[in-house]
Amino acid sequence: MTTLPQVATPAQAPVDAATVGLAAATGEQGSEVGEVLVSEGDLMRRVAELGKQIARDYAGKPLLLVGVLKGAVFFLSDLMRHIDIPVEVDFMAVASYGSATDSSGVVRILKDLDAAIEGRDVLIVEDIVDSGLTLQYLMRNLGSRNPRTLEVCALLVKPARRKVELPTKYVGFEIEDRFVVGYGLDYAERYRNLPFVAALER
Ligand code: IMP
Ligand code: MG
Repeated sequence: MTTLPQVATPAQAPVDAATVGLAAATGEQGSEVGEVLVSEGDLMRRVAELGKQIARDYAGKPLLLVGVLKGAVFFLSDLMRHIDIPVEVDFMAVASYGSATDSSGVVRILKDLDAAIEGRDVLIVEDIVDSGLTLQYLMRNLGSRNPRTLEVCALLVKPARRKVELPTKYVGFEIEDRFVVGYGLDYAERYRNLPFVAALER
């Protein structure tokens, strides 16, 4: 008979997640991660609040969360665990043509939803709304598939950078006009594993 590992008692005292994240992310390039703008604790608290609010608002309406890959995965998985009503999840991957830090609004679908959303209550979960161009495209695209309702939940918004008006029903934090990384947000695919949101030093 095999002995299963004990899950209840960790072998060692838990390591501070911020230390682990920072070490993992900064290992080789040292100084790219700057000031922490949203701490791990503030993220956890706000995500729990948003989840509870969403559960209240969608009570009795089977909800479909649409996560936008890859950045929103981290936020979505934490958020979902605070939504205590029936909820399903699907994903889209989009690429926005542009530079590393500016999107152009010309969006290409890399991965579409697995299932139809006609008649569904759909909530798009995004990591960050910057210019709003990516989200505007997604709202139009998903809106044309006749969901019953279509709303947005964004972890972060940068009001100073907004180019298009968009209804964002749920917002985690408004941040200043700085390029940020961590908690799903990347710079050239790095730093998604940081447990906090920090400014990128360039
Ligand atoms: P938008 O189309 O300008 O609103 O940009 C949306 C996408 O650009 C987001 O989903 C992110 O993937 C990326 N993005 C915008 N601002 C940042 C940032 O500060 N850090 C990391 N990614 C960002
Ligand atoms: Mg991105």
